[in-house]
Amino acid sequence: MRSVWRHPDAWALLTGSAAATVFLLSSCSSFDGTVAAPPHIEGATFVGNQTCADCHTNLTRIFPTSAHGRYHRDDLRMAGSTGCESCHGPGSKHVAAAGARQFIVNPGKDPAACFACHLEVHAEFDLPQRHPVLEGRMNCVECHDPHGPDILKPAGGLAMARLNESCAGCHRDQTRPFVFEHEAMREGCVSCHQPHGSINAKLLVQRDANLCLKCHAQMPQGGGVLIGKVDHSQLLRLGSCWSAGCHTAVHGSNINPKMLY
Ligand code: HEC
Ligand code: HEC
Ligand code: HEC
Ligand code: HEC
Ligand code: HEC
Ligand code: HEC
Ligand code: HEC
Repeated sequence: MRSVWRHPDAWALLTGSAAATVFLLSSCSSFDGTVAAPPHIEGATFVGNQTCADCHTNLTRIFPTSAHGRYHRDDLRMAGSTGCESCHGPGSKHVAAAGARQFIVNPGKDPAACFACHLEVHAEFDLPQRHPVLEGRMNCVECHDPHGPDILKPAGGLAMARLNESCAGCHRDQTRPFVFEHEAMREGCVSCHQPHGSINAKLLVQRDANLCLKCHAQMPQGGGVLIGKVDHSQLLRLGSCWSAGCHTAVHGSNINPKMLY
């Protein structure tokens, strides 16, 4: 389990208000194929991935490369827990009706199917700062490919090209090229932002100078504190590194290598 649950503030906030959720979450994280209730479709039964393959060959072919495909069993009893139908619901009526849409769930429109297994992600989207998924203004698929190998597409973080694929589609200001690049960007947006939701403004992982200090070590010297060879002992009292007017252009700058606008 990663992201917000590691954060001590988030724990304090959530264990206070949602202890029941946290309890359920521990049972979900030790996934054994039985915890999740797949979406319900009145009167339909499970048919297994092989049946879907008859008409959806391309998706069925790439599915084994997905994080979800790794959990797949051909055993029909497990169909609702590990296969296509764990997200789309039992398919018998959809198949009998030659692919009629009203008999299959499309979780691209409604993330409830995902939350059956990812309870902790549901809680993250309930935090005070969040991407508006529960509000229906965007969905999981805008950042995750449900069928193929690219389920964590925005998190790769190896190159700007990867980031540009997803976050950049909506956030041009932060992802365009800069004359003075901030190398932190190469490690991905998630080194500073919680992608789902956060208790901090701007979805930040940490609200204060610690956000920056995890990469920029403080070096004690002669009663002062050096960061990047500059004495910061007075400066750190003025506010966070970006709000105190010092490094306002955290994503990169076109005019100043010290990350200023
Ligand atoms: C007999 C062929 C056939 C089989 C078998 C079949 N489908 Fe479909 N499916 C279709 C067709 C045709 C459509 C497109 C319907 C349309 O465009 O109106 C479709 C559409 C869908 C959609 C999109 C629904 C939407 O809201 O856009 C999903 C999801 C889906 N199928 C999942 C499955 C799953 C999961 C299985 C296996 C359990 C399966 N299908 C088996 C023919 C089939
Ligand atoms: C992790 C959940 C999940 C699993 C498992 C899953 N899907 Fe999907 N599927 C989705 C989501 C989410 C969408 C909506 C995609 C979108 O809107 O771009 C979708 C869309 C579809 C569609 C219609 C849109 C399209 O991309 O053509 C079909 C058909 C489909 N899935 C079939 C399958 C089949 C067949 C399998 C098994 C091989 C499968 N799905 C496994 C989540 C899942
Ligand atoms: C039947 C349970 C189930 C459902 C439904 C489900 N997932 Fe998952 N998901 C899993 C399991 C199990 C893993 C693997 C966890 C691991 O590898 O530690 C996983 C992993 C993931 C990962 C992380 C992959 C990684 O490599 O870390 C993402 C992202 C994800 N799911 C998104 C979704 C989305 C989006 C939906 C709905 C469209 C969805 N899941 C529906 C069970 C489910
Ligand atoms: C704004 C883009 C975005 C949206 C929307 C989004 N995710 Fe994610 N998600 C990410 C990124 C980026 C990561 C990788 C986080 C990391 O590496 O720290 C991630 C990680 C995950 C993981 C694995 C790690 C974890 O936090 O448990 C799961 C499971 C997951 N997402 C499920 C979902 C589901 C379900 C939805 C829809 C309800 C969703 N995500 C919507 C960007 C997004
Ligand atoms: C499909 C479009 C879309 C994608 C993709 C997307 N976002 Fe967002 N993002 C939004 C929307 C919409 C908001 C909410 C803006 C609002 O409420 O006015 C938002 C808000 C934010 C905020 C908070 C801004 C603020 O002023 O509080 C941050 C930070 C952010 N996104 C980072 C990311 C990161 C990092 C990724 C990739 C993992 C990403 N976004 C992917 C649409 C998107
Ligand atoms: C080095 C840490 C860091 C990295 C890496 C980072 N951000 Fe940010 N981001 C911040 C900080 C700090 C703020 C708050 C700035 C402020 O309030 O003035 C912010 C603010 C934002 C905002 C809100 C902008 C606004 O005007 O309110 C968006 C959107 C955003 N970031 C998107 C992204 C995206 C997309 C990526 C990856 C391409 C990314 N960030 C990478 C630190 C980072
Ligand atoms: C993921 C690691 C990482 C994070 C987090 C990070 N940085 Fe950086 N930053 C770097 C690297 C790597 C460099 C380039 C090497 C260097 O100058 O130390 C850099 C360079 C800089 C520079 C230019 C230094 C110079 O002398 O040219 C400034 C200013 C800066 N960062 C400010 C910040 C601020 C402010 C934050 C917090 C919002 C932050 N950084 C967070 C990795 C990071």
